[in-house]
Amino acid sequence: MTSLDLAAYDRDGFLVLERFLPAGDCDALQRRAAELVAGFRPGSARTIFAARDQAHARDRYFQESGAAIHFFFEEAASSEQNELALNKIGHALHDLDPVFDRISRQLRLARLAQALGFVQPLLLQSMYLFKQPRIGAEVGWHQDATYLYTRPPTVTAFWIALDDADRDNGCLLALSGAHHGPLRRRFHRAGDAMVTSELDATPWPAVEPLALEVPRGSLVVLHGLLPHASAANHSNRSRHAYALHLIDGQAVYDPDNWLQRPHLPLRGFD
Ligand code: FE2
Repeated sequence: MTSLDLAAYDRDGFLVLERFLPAGDCDALQRRAAELVAGFRPGSARTIFAARDQAHARDRYFQESGAAIHFFFEEAASSEQNELALNKIGHALHDLDPVFDRISRQLRLARLAQALGFVQPLLLQSMYLFKQPRIGAEVGWHQDATYLYTRPPTVTAFWIALDDADRDNGCLLALSGAHHGPLRRRFHRAGDAMVTSELDATPWPAVEPLALEVPRGSLVVLHGLLPHASAANHSNRSRHAYALHLIDGQAVYDPDNWLQRPHLPLRGFD
């Protein structure tokens, strides 16, 4: 990464590093995700997601995923659908699975975090995103700091395309430069439940969304305050991606963040 890249990141709130991850690493992540899916026994999780009256169990399954490898289905998925209805796996793949651990903690990612100014990078959250052909749903406009909040905000995403990502299969969309605006909402714990609180009613700036079409292996750095989204997958191609979220250990991690790991301390790249 050059100083020019850093200037672009400060200006835009995102940075595209084309073909950053070698094809071998993309293959390894996809193969490992397929193995995890093959070994997944949907029993209880399926019940949780199929039934409408399971909000409590769903909340708990989600909350516990911060220190686990849990499987999440598409909102609209019916119980008859197969593994194609999986939306994602999360959120501690990088700590609990050796393949994800190795690839997440490679030196080039550590150097990237350092170049971005991280003093004490901590790997907080990982997600394997499926965005399955014809099934993968849209992800609405949001800022990642809504979900993973530190004071000051430090959350940063390394989003890695494991398939070519384009407009048809639901690539990332971003509001370039809008990370200079305020954090709008916080999603956080309130007792056992989770709530969304409005912090700032400023609307998203009226700029044309930018479609970040990237080839497989590309890494997109997303500033935690950058509004971004992705459309549904309208194509017959999958759009797998791996997203890793970092925070800086020098910032204060709020105790009411949804993701709490009392028995699994956060680690950096070592
Ligand atoms: Fe996001």
